[in-house]
Amino acid sequence: MTLYESIGGETAVRAAVDEFYRRVVTDPDLAAYFADVDLARLKAHQRAFLTAAVGGPTAYQGRSMAEAHAGLGITGAAFDAVVAHLVATLTRLNVPTTEIAQIATALGPLRDDIVGSRTSTE
Ligand code: HEM
Repeated sequence: MTLYESIGGETAVRAAVDEFYRRVVTDPDLAAYFADVDLARLKAHQRAFLTAAVGGPTAYQGRSMAEAHAGLGITGAAFDAVVAHLVATLTRLNVPTTEIAQIATALGPLRDDIVGSRTSTE
């Protein structure tokens, strides 16, 4: 069984993404990053990304993490805050601690691609 199946498949991923974004966009330290973003589009991409990250059936076909986040000036603290919201979301949705740790570990290596300067032109 993949991690995707064990956390409850498409339904769980959809619920997790909805809850995750509610938390992120209402966090005063993070809201500004998302002020001009079309949330419906972003959620669809995020869903696809998370699904692929946990071994689900649809491969993520969006831009690379470096491209998607270039020039946004995302700080290390903001990255940690977003990951903490994801962990809190999965905890609230009763995803077992072992699975949450696996997901958080899988996101760690993306940090260097996502954290960057506001003027990056990658
Ligand atoms: C935990 C790791 C993260 C993952 C897996 C992730 C994933 C994604 C994905 C899949 C997209 C859509 C890409 C596309 O449309 O082609 C995206 C866009 C975006 N992300 Fe992230 N992200 C992460 C961390 C962050 C952080 C920490 C911030 C800011 C604090 C952030 C802010 C944004 C913004 C503002 C966009 C929209 C960019 C645009 O539409 O031009 N992301 N992210």
